[in-house]
Order: sequence, then C-alpha cells, then structure tokens
Amino acid sequence: MKTYLTGIQATGMPHLGNYLGAIKPAIDFSNSSEGSFFYFIADYHSLNSVKDPKLISEQTYEVAATWLACGLDTEKAVFYKQSDIPEIFELTWILNCHIPKGDLNRAHSYKAKIQTNEEAGKKDIDHGVNAGLFTYPVLMAADILLFNTNIVPVGKDQVQHVEMARSIAQRINVHYGNVLIEPQESLSDAKYIPGLDGRKMSKSYGNSIPLFCTEKKLKKLCNKITTDSSGPDDPKSTEDSLIFDLYKYFSNSSDVESFAKKFQEGISWGHAKAELFEKINSEISGYREKFDYLINNREIIDQELRNGAKKARAVAGKTIKSLRKNIMGLES
Ligand code: TRP
Repeated sequence: MKTYLTGIQATGMPHLGNYLGAIKPAIDFSNSSEGSFFYFIADYHSLNSVKDPKLISEQTYEVAATWLACGLDTEKAVFYKQSDIPEIFELTWILNCHIPKGDLNRAHSYKAKIQTNEEAGKKDIDHGVNAGLFTYPVLMAADILLFNTNIVPVGKDQVQHVEMARSIAQRINVHYGNVLIEPQESLSDAKYIPGLDGRKMSKSYGNSIPLFCTEKKLKKLCNKITTDSSGPDDPKSTEDSLIFDLYKYFSNSSDVESFAKKFQEGISWGHAKAELFEKINSEISGYREKFDYLINNREIIDQELRNGAKKARAVAGKTIKSLRKNIMGLES
C-alpha cells in the first residue's frame, strides 16, 4: 500500500481552475483508490508571504471548508493543518543540518527572486528574501518525509521541491542506514482551464471565476466570458470557444455532443452562456451550500482538523522517535 501526500496552499477562496485542476482530481483520487492519503493545509508556508494573523486564519478556514464541502472523505484521507503538527518543525531542523546550502541556492523560487533583484540593479541580490523563503524547500521536505510518503502528487512547479526532499532523504539514508522513505513525484496532467479572457485562469490575471460566490455573481461572470462577434443565428466553431471549453469540464459526453450541435446550428452567445452557467451551477450548488454552512459553523471545521491532526501525529511521532534515536542517539 502506497502513501500519497500533498500540501495545499492556504491562499483563500479557490477558483474554478483550482477546483478542476487540483481539488476535484485529488478528492476523486483519494475517495476511489487504495492507499494512505495525507492532505494538509500548508499554513506555516504561508507565513512567508502573509504577515497578518486574521488573513492567514481566514484563508485556512476557506480552504479547509472548500475541501470538506467538495466531498473529501476524511475517513480515507488524513486532513490536517501543518501548524498542528509540531513534529514537522523538529524534522525541519534535522533536515536543515543535512542539506548543503548550495542546493537551496539552486531552488527555482529563490533563484527567480535574486534574478529579479539583479535585473532591478539592486546592490544586495538577497534584498527582500527572508530565510523562510530560502529554506521553504526544507520545510516542504519535512512535510513529506515525516509521513513515509511514497508519492507526492504535484504540479510542474513543485517537482524540484520533491526532488530536493528525495535527495535529502538519500543523503540521510546513506549516512545513518535506511531511516527515511525516498519519495517520488507524480505529475498531475496539467489541464488548461481558461479564465474569462482565455488566458490560464489565475487570481493574478484577474480573470478567474471563484468556486463559491452567489448564483447571481456566477451568472454575471459567465456573461463576461470573451466571445467573438458572430451573430445569434450564425454557426459557431467549438474549436476556439471559451464557453465550450469550460462547458466540457462540467458535462457528460452526450451533453457535450448536443451542445456542439447547437453551436453548428447557431446559438446566441447569450444562450450559450446561460447554458454554461446552468451546468456549472448544477455541479457546485450543493457544494456551495455546504461551504456556506461550514464557514458559518467553524467548530465543525476545527473538529475535522483536530481529528486529522491526531491521526497524523500518531504517524509523525513514530518517525520522529526513530530519527531521534538513529540520528541523535536519543532513546526517548
Ligand atoms: N509548496 C506547495 C505549493 O506551493 C505546497 C506544499 C507544501 C506541498 N508542502 C507540501 C506540496 C508537501 C506537496 C507536498 O503548492
């Protein structure tokens, strides 16, 4: 039986791109596969960029409520927040003492930051870089290695981090005997979810549709999707239609076929947008209700995360105990 683990950034309200690209596949996967699953909210990673206790806490609740509302089965997947697991931070230090600083110099996110400084002609290339950003991959390695993870499902941008976790584990295993599982990444097939303007849906482009907003707002956003200037009765191509692209993600094949037929015969963009809205809304309206309920009854979320932390710490405690013994010579 394999152990799968992935961390979720606490960036606040997810959008449809996050839902289709990450949340839904992860939930479907853990609900329907064999294995052990650890899904957690990486709230201490957020501290790097967010220095506002209210905001971090709010974003953590929103993300937790989203996953629970969308049907994550917390009997199958251990669901917790990073800050509830002190063992992660003990392991972080152990790992810090075994990773060459040069490896961290080569981490993409750090390199990107110093490159920006260089291009801006800053005298100090480390301008604005805190040590948390620099050692971000070490905390992430601790997240992974603590739970004997075999597989880390991630997007392309995170592959290097998993490689670094693997290389720290290898280094430690060579020195102390096999004490850690060496994890592998599993690259999620990147779906291109277009935003309102056709570019990849992203908060930073301002083209995203939030997963949970009022029906009225969802309708309004669907109406804002960019279309061409063809008239209401003109036949329309499904090839480069954002409406059609998004519709596909929320519909079964026979609905897609009949929608395509309407395009061929000529459907007004207004009607096409209305049909898209109906499809999205019918998939998520139940989740929205559940989300609203959870966000107004946070003690349920607290309870779920507490249960998850308890299960996670049972595993974490064993790993730490063995590392304290094998690496520090401590018997307790
Ligand atoms: N760094 C990841 C991201 O930005 C989040 C994350 C933190 C993570 N710890 C992890 C992902 C451990 C996988 C495993 O998306």
